[in-house]
Amino acid sequence: MEVQSPETLQQQAQQPFKILGIHHVEFFVGNAKQAAYFYRRGFGFEWFAYSGLETGNRNSTSYALRQNEVVFVLTAPYHSNSPIYEFLQKHGDGVRDIAFLVDDAEKAYETTTARGAESVVEPHVVEDENGQVKIATVRAYGDIVHSFIEKGDYQGVFLPGFQGVDKDPIADPVGFVRIDHIVGNMGWNQMEEMVNFYNRVFGFKRFVSFDDKDISTEYTALRSTVVANDNLLIKFPINEPAEGKKKSQIEEFVEFNEGPGVQHIALLTNDIVTTVEKLRANGIEFMDTPDAYYDTLPSRVGAIDEAVDTIRRLRILVDRDDQGYLLQIFTRTLVDRPTLFFEIIQRKGAQSFGKGNFKALFEAIEREQALRGTLDK
Ligand code: FE2
Repeated sequence: MEVQSPETLQQQAQQPFKILGIHHVEFFVGNAKQAAYFYRRGFGFEWFAYSGLETGNRNSTSYALRQNEVVFVLTAPYHSNSPIYEFLQKHGDGVRDIAFLVDDAEKAYETTTARGAESVVEPHVVEDENGQVKIATVRAYGDIVHSFIEKGDYQGVFLPGFQGVDKDPIADPVGFVRIDHIVGNMGWNQMEEMVNFYNRVFGFKRFVSFDDKDISTEYTALRSTVVANDNLLIKFPINEPAEGKKKSQIEEFVEFNEGPGVQHIALLTNDIVTTVEKLRANGIEFMDTPDAYYDTLPSRVGAIDEAVDTIRRLRILVDRDDQGYLLQIFTRTLVDRPTLFFEIIQRKGAQSFGKGNFKALFEAIEREQALRGTLDK
């Protein structure tokens, strides 16, 4: 894909359709019933809608889970000839669809495909007794897609084909408010191409960029560029590996995912201490941070509202930029392959992504890579 001139980018930023936010993120999984239990029990999500044999869906089963504005759909196939199986065979459980709520699905599809996005599903109407929803889908990176969902005055609990579920007896929310950002890992030298794709096709702007000098440890390196929509509700950091002494964690991801894919979803909380206390009590495992990190914390980030002892005990990371500070922590991978994980983030003014923590974090990831025997090239 060629790089566009600034004039072209300006013109294309005038969107003929509106992206109102992320409607849901759909994961393809081998066993949706068990995955749903994990995300409900472990992360406090509420199961609120279901699609499957009992609702007339003969091909696949889907569990829709939510916590405030975060909506996840876990979908598994019923038969071996399902295209979902092809995805699972290649990538394992992981994110398939980052679905956007739009004002006009047809215009979103026409505009993005005219600008070079590959069509996956043409605009079509799905309906049930609660009304109609218009949906279309285009490809993003690897086997990740973006669906456009136009709901109009649809009255159902989620989407046509889904039945509401009575109050979830398991769900115990941990404080997730909404998705803060979703990170995509690319292969070697694919970052610029994807940044240009989001810029040209969706009108997303380059938000922050780091080079491999910013994000490198003694051994491994990566490059990252963040693209974001106008109101900054959608932020996609795009990573690619960079050359280091040992194998980049991005390269490890792409090897095990067998291509580009979603590396992590960052979930926003307004009280990270309570959120992480609850997650730890639920048995969720987090990336560890060396003790030395907390010895130097006060001198690195200055005064914070939280007690350093608490932050240290929970292994929460802190970073400051010129607008404030942020607190964050990363789970260990959530699936068998070393691919997908979650970030928990609280922002106190800071709009960045924890650049000051990257080194500490990546060294922690490298320790896990070393345990897996995948650090050496
Ligand atoms: Fe992140």
